[in-house]
Amino acid sequence: MKIVAKIAELKEILNEYRDQGKSIGLVPTMGALHQGHISLVKRCIQDNDCCVVSVFVNPTQFNDKNDLKHYPRTPKEDCALLESVGCSIVFIPEVEEMYPEEDNRIFDLGSAAEVMEGRFRPGHFNGVAQIVSKLFYAVEPNKAYFGEKDFQQIAVIRAMERQIKTGVEIIDVPIVREDDGLAMSSRNRRLTESQRKNAPKIWETLSKSYNFAKDHSVEETTNFVIDTLNKIPEFKVEYYEIVDGDTLQPIKDWIETKRPVGCIATFCGEIRLIDNITYSVK
Ligand code: PAJ
Repeated sequence: MKIVAKIAELKEILNEYRDQGKSIGLVPTMGALHQGHISLVKRCIQDNDCCVVSVFVNPTQFNDKNDLKHYPRTPKEDCALLESVGCSIVFIPEVEEMYPEEDNRIFDLGSAAEVMEGRFRPGHFNGVAQIVSKLFYAVEPNKAYFGEKDFQQIAVIRAMERQIKTGVEIIDVPIVREDDGLAMSSRNRRLTESQRKNAPKIWETLSKSYNFAKDHSVEETTNFVIDTLNKIPEFKVEYYEIVDGDTLQPIKDWIETKRPVGCIATFCGEIRLIDNITYSVK
C-alpha cells in the first residue's frame, strides 16, 4: 500500500494504472476509520483494480469550528487498518495541498441541499462539494463510494456531479451499525459512557416508527420520533423529517413518494449524531 501526500505524486502513480487499462475506485473519508468506512473500502476493492482512500479532515465543510477542532484524527491506525484490508493507495494530504489558496467556488446544488443538513449547517454541503470535486479532479476515478449513513450527502454529490460532469459513477453503500443498532460514526468515540448507553435509542426509535407508520400519518410518525427521543436525558432532536428519498423534499402524505426516508439529526450532549430509515411503501 502506498501512502501519498501530494496530488502530483498521486496523479503519476494513477496514470500508470490507467496506462495499463486498470480501473480506479475512490473512497473519500475524513479518517478515524471504522467498519462503516471499511465496508465502502471493501466494495471499492471488489469493483476496481486500484482502490484509493482519501483521509482528509476538510475544514471548509465544518460550520462549527469547535467540531473541527475536536474531530478525531488517527492517521497511523487508519493506514494500518487500510493496509490490512488490501487498499492500494492512501491519499493523506495537508490542508495547504488541497487549499493552496481560498476556494471561493459556490456550487448550485439545487433543492436537495437546502433542506435538513443544509438548513442547520449552512455552507456545509458547499464545503463537501469543494473537497469532493477536488478529489474527483485529482484521482479521476471510474467510481466513487459513499455511505447511506449520510443520506442527503449522496443526493448532493450526485447534484454536484451533474454540474461538473467528471463522469465519475457514484455508488451508494448501506449503513453499517454496531451490534446494538447505533450507526457507526467517527463521532461516537466522543460520547460519554452514559451517552453511549442511550445512543442506540436513536435506531431503536426509528425502527419502532417503521411499524408505527403503518397506521399513522407522516406528521404523527414524525412527532412520535421527536417526542420519544426528546424524553431521553441529554437528547435534543434538531430535526426529524420524512422526505422523498430521491428529491429529499419533505412529504405530507405517504402516497407522495415511492421511497419515504426519515432523516434525523439529534444532539446527544454536545455530540451531533445523524441516522435515517427507509419506510415501506404504502
Ligand atoms: P466521513 O464522515 O469520514 O465518511 C466517509 C464516508 O463513509 C461517507 O461516504 C460516509 O457516508 C461513510 N460512512 C460513515 N459512517 C458509515 C456507516 N456507519 N455506514 C456506512 N457508511 C458510512 O462523509 C464524509 O466523511 C465527508 O463529508 C467526505 C465525503 C469525506 C468529504 O469530506
